[in-house]
Amino acid sequence: MRQLPKWFYNENQQVGTDYTDIKEVQLYDQRMERIRDIEKEVEDVKDAVNPRPNHSILEIGTGTGELAIALSEHCGRVYAVDTSLTMLEAARKKAQIRKRTNIEFLCGGFLSYQHQGRPLDAVISQLALHHLPDFWKLLALKSIYSLLQPGGILYLRDVVFPSIANYYSYFSELIEEMRVSAGEIIAAEFETHIREEFSTLDWIMEGLLQSAGFKIKNTANESSFLACYVCEK
Ligand SMILES: C[S@@+](CC[C@H](N)C(=O)[O-])C[C@H]1O[C@@H](n2cnc3c(N)ncnc32)[C@H](O)[C@@H]1O
Repeated sequence: MRQLPKWFYNENQQVGTDYTDIKEVQLYDQRMERIRDIEKEVEDVKDAVNPRPNHSILEIGTGTGELAIALSEHCGRVYAVDTSLTMLEAARKKAQIRKRTNIEFLCGGFLSYQHQGRPLDAVISQLALHHLPDFWKLLALKSIYSLLQPGGILYLRDVVFPSIANYYSYFSELIEEMRVSAGEIIAAEFETHIREEFSTLDWIMEGLLQSAGFKIKNTANESSFLACYVCEK
């Protein structure tokens, strides 16, 4: 295990929602099903990374493992990494029930994960990089770049804010829409997200990806605050 310097960011601290809380983890899938189309997400990732039986894929911030488990049916090995042992335990149990045996669930984070196998064909991360402040996002992206083989793909999907004139009206309208369409808990979680987590601006995220060495092949905006980047090493 690498010794981290004293100035290093502690990525085990929980910012915003506490994903080490068993109650949060138990309700996670149920909440996500209400606001996400997980099957479509899996198809989008498959289209972008084109998984093959000889491929090794890493997912960082795997959460309850839904995507890692789906991808494991199409590639040789999946490394599913998360800082929360509670999340990893839920993901491991789900993989066992679905009889998936080619996934390694590993406790680690964007900054601390040390890859042991051969260079990766793809790295995927959904709704997790915003847990790091911007400077640390850059270090995380540089680390991901170093783990990929040349031509390898980074699929990054996260909450990223648009560059607009008035954030007060933008956020209050967005939160009101969420309250109506998804309910009070999701709206309150989004308020916590804005206040305590580290979602950045679209132009900063693009700059960070490019500074880390990536070529952005495709950018898609699913909504005004959800961006997806398909990048190549
Ligand atoms: C919103 S959940 C997303 C989970 C899953 N990717 C999904 O799409 O449903 C965020 C996840 O990122 C994890 N996480 C937070 N900080 C992290 C870090 N520095 N490195 C890796 N994972 C992290 C949390 O424990 C949590 O499981």
